[in-house]
Amino acid sequence: MTGRSISPAVIKRLPRYYRYLGELLENGVERISSKELSNGMKVTASQIRQDLNNFGGFGQQGYGYNVEYLHSEIGKILGLDHIQTMIIIGAGNLGQALANYNFDRIGFHIIGIFDVNPRLEGLSVRGIEIQMMDDLPAFLEENRVHVAALTVPKKSARPIATQLEELGIRAIWNFTPTDLHVSEEVCVKNVHLDESLMTLSYNFRNRGQEKYSYRSYMDDKD
Ligand code: NAI
Repeated sequence: MTGRSISPAVIKRLPRYYRYLGELLENGVERISSKELSNGMKVTASQIRQDLNNFGGFGQQGYGYNVEYLHSEIGKILGLDHIQTMIIIGAGNLGQALANYNFDRIGFHIIGIFDVNPRLEGLSVRGIEIQMMDDLPAFLEENRVHVAALTVPKKSARPIATQLEELGIRAIWNFTPTDLHVSEEVCVKNVHLDESLMTLSYNFRNRGQEKYSYRSYMDDKD
């Protein structure tokens, strides 16, 4: 890695490279030209070169890219080359759905689920027992936790984020529909499915149009 800062747009594209290269690997593809990579990913070859040059290239003139090497190097850049531990705060519908998903595939291992509802205490989701929030401080003293997923009701989100920061958590995967107030020490990634759905709605309603105008939106509404 170069140590200099990489643009958020590039960082955003890296998981897609990683996933696509992973699929190529599963299909036994050993190397790929930047043109093939570009066609497969619907990203221009020059964009790919520019993106990967941020991290020192990885391609060889006349050879293209070694798929396994590129996949593993992008994995390292994304921090996926070592197991990261995750806890889930809020064991309701979404928290349990996350706990049921296999994030181990990409190196994230869920080691704890926490809630305040005593009726959930001791229930297991995918082999992980739900614990009470009161047990969280002791748990964090005994276990190194890299990421906390936040799936609590909106009103509880900010106080819990503050508590998590005080307890040493430095990465929060925030599913609650609120902006968290934490210091710059803490990385927050917001996930909002409804925003994605709104974008889909926009694209669907304006498909085939080069440009979207307020007039066409009003026409759609009529
Ligand atoms: P839910 O009501 O099924 O689950 C919330 C859980 O949080 C409950 O088990 C409750 O006991 C627990 N809880 C309440 N206060 C707590 C506290 N102080 N500490 C620990 N646990 C606490 O709700 P659901 O449907 O799972 O949604 C959870 C959150 O995720 C909500 O904020 C919701 O708006 C959000 N959400 C976000 C989505 C997204 O795309 N980002 C999609 C769906 C939900």
